[in-house]
Amino acid sequence: MKRNDSCWCGSGKKYKKCHLDFDERIDGMTFSKKKGQLKPPHKLINNAGDIEKIKRAAEINTGALDLAGSLVKAGIDTLKINDAVHEFIVGHGGHPSCLDFEGFPKSICISVNDVVCHGIPSAETILQDGDILNIDITTDVDGFFADASRMFTVGKISPEAEKLVRVTKEIMEVGIAAAKAWHFVGDIGAACGKLAHENGYSVVTDLGGHGVGKDFHLEPFVSHDCASETGMLLVPGMVLTVEPMINAGKKNVVVDEDDGWTVYTEDGSLSAQWEKTILITENGVEVLAS
Ligand code: MF3
Ligand code: CO
Ligand code: CO
Repeated sequence: MKRNDSCWCGSGKKYKKCHLDFDERIDGMTFSKKKGQLKPPHKLINNAGDIEKIKRAAEINTGALDLAGSLVKAGIDTLKINDAVHEFIVGHGGHPSCLDFEGFPKSICISVNDVVCHGIPSAETILQDGDILNIDITTDVDGFFADASRMFTVGKISPEAEKLVRVTKEIMEVGIAAAKAWHFVGDIGAACGKLAHENGYSVVTDLGGHGVGKDFHLEPFVSHDCASETGMLLVPGMVLTVEPMINAGKKNVVVDEDDGWTVYTEDGSLSAQWEKTILITENGVEVLAS
């Protein structure tokens, strides 16, 4: 690309006034093979217009999570929460991205107690006093996606469950704080893993976070327990999720053989997860969906 060409990012600006310095900075870096360090491809970089579109999806997604949380109470079945959230998202001009995603049968994921993630809402899953649950919602509008999840609790929960939910949120936050432009994605997993292990918890590594924005799941894979300075270089304009899945017991997970989706802890221990969609900027991160 020449200096006076229109920049590859789609901003409409000249390359020399847009991503020329950016490309030169990346080309001047050395990437360690041993650490699995990778250059970020241009397709992962979002311009200002792309970010605005992700924010539109995020606004609906945040409202959907607020609504879902307001419905959590003992006695409600998780299908009712799914159906109300579906109506909300569609009513606000969004699309619930989970519906039919690789055959997923419902609009959102609701994962109770020992369910790690991808719990399928069901009339048979009735929330009970003492339960902890993750509600994970993704919304797309005009081809752009925002993905976030939160934990909720029902009635009086055990001190162990309370701590797991609270510390898992802190684990997500330290992961987000470790995400820095011109550093590597592995820094996120190093920070998350450290805090998890300090608390005696295990980190699920079969699943992780991901790039998001122009599609539901993009590169890079975001591990929540790995060595620092590994994986893809983070650069301004990248959008990704940080979504640690933390188990009170062992890290091993199993997928339900019948439905092909529900991920459980193998040992039956409690699991918690929080997720935000973040934008990498030159001076830190901006939370786009939470
Ligand atoms: N929202 C989940 C994530 O955080 C993905 C759910 S995929 C589904 O990446 F098919 F289970 F809905
Ligand atoms: Co999600
Ligand atoms: Co996600």
